[in-house]
Amino acid sequence: MARKLIAVIPGDGIGPEVIAQAVRLLERLSLPLDLWQLDLGADRYLKDGTTFPKEVSDRIRNEASAVLLGALGDPRVPKLEHARDILFGLRFGFDLYANVRPVKALSDRLVPLKNRTKKDVDFVVFRENTEGIYVGMGGQFKHGTPDEIAINEDVNTRKGVERLIRAGFEFAKRHGKKTVHMADKSNAMAHAHELWHRVFFEVAKEYPGIQAKHVYVDALCLYMVQDPSQLKVIVTCNLFGDIVTDLGAALQGGLGVASSANVHASDPARVAMFEPVHGSAPPLAGKDLANPIASFLTVGMMLAHLGFPEEEARIEAACVKALDAGECTKDVGGTLGTRAAADAVLAHLR
Ligand SMILES: NC(=O)c1ccc[n+]([C@@H]2O[C@H](COP(=O)([O-])OP(=O)(O)OC[C@H]3O[C@@H](n4cnc5c(N)ncnc54)[C@H](O)[C@@H]3O)[C@@H](O)[C@H]2O)c1
Repeated sequence: MARKLIAVIPGDGIGPEVIAQAVRLLERLSLPLDLWQLDLGADRYLKDGTTFPKEVSDRIRNEASAVLLGALGDPRVPKLEHARDILFGLRFGFDLYANVRPVKALSDRLVPLKNRTKKDVDFVVFRENTEGIYVGMGGQFKHGTPDEIAINEDVNTRKGVERLIRAGFEFAKRHGKKTVHMADKSNAMAHAHELWHRVFFEVAKEYPGIQAKHVYVDALCLYMVQDPSQLKVIVTCNLFGDIVTDLGAALQGGLGVASSANVHASDPARVAMFEPVHGSAPPLAGKDLANPIASFLTVGMMLAHLGFPEEEARIEAACVKALDAGECTKDVGGTLGTRAAADAVLAHLR
């Protein structure tokens, strides 16, 4: 197999700490990958104003197979200009329209629901990643006065909705999942989510072996807590996906163990971006407290995408062993620091 280039952006806060461990894992696996470390994030922005230069973006687009990102967000940059340029430069710039977030519990003891085990928590959320309220359309009028108005437009295109829904069904077909839920708020958002509702059932006709179920997003939150075992694949818009996947992370043991991929799902040959779901967690930064497992599982997703699915299974199995042995960080019930928790997983790699 030809060597593949991976752009690595550790980012801010705990990002560099967990990505350092992810890089150790990648080096340990000895795959035909070249890592390209990029100095981008709050420090660089505060030093010289650089956010996401065009030449970097062009090289990633033309030469890299994947981007591995830590997290972005730093209290010294309150408006998050650098984070927006980098994160949206990747997601929007490379049209990575599907944000894929597995919600899979790796250990019974991490499932916070009464009488539920890890068997009950195993589904994947497909979050639309290039539209919705995240496009930043809108404005403020009469700012700071008693009459002020603040508007954020929610953008939903037929193309954007259809391709995300299709990505969910294609995933279900490939992985033998029998149900796809679509979560919207079409009872309140009569225009935007009528489109989601209609397109969902149109696309569903192309997948006769898969049951298509509509659910309002508020009811979805209820089901996720009452009985997550009924969920297999969920497709939803950008905002709802952002929110329900943090609830999903809680079901699997917290943000320290939640991974994600950002892909142009209809063309896997395009560069894709992989990041733990968590942010830069400023209060944890520099204290050797961050859980590296989210980044390890994210590396697993990246390797499966690049054609090494057996490596993803190995990484997951090693994480399960470390978690079951209690060889992990405090957020998931252990006592180890970031590096020691990573050592434990690496020791279990077979
Ligand atoms: N994609 C991204 O880069 C991304 C995503 C979310 C938030 N952010 C940014 O991160 C900053 C902090 O945001 P936040 O506090 O809302 O979310 P966060 O994910 O950074 O932290 C939320 C909670 O989860 C815990 N946590 C997160 N990751 C952990 C890990 N690896 N190990 C152990 N515990 C972990 C934190 O201690 C905190 O209690 C903000 O600037 C925000 O904009 C960035």
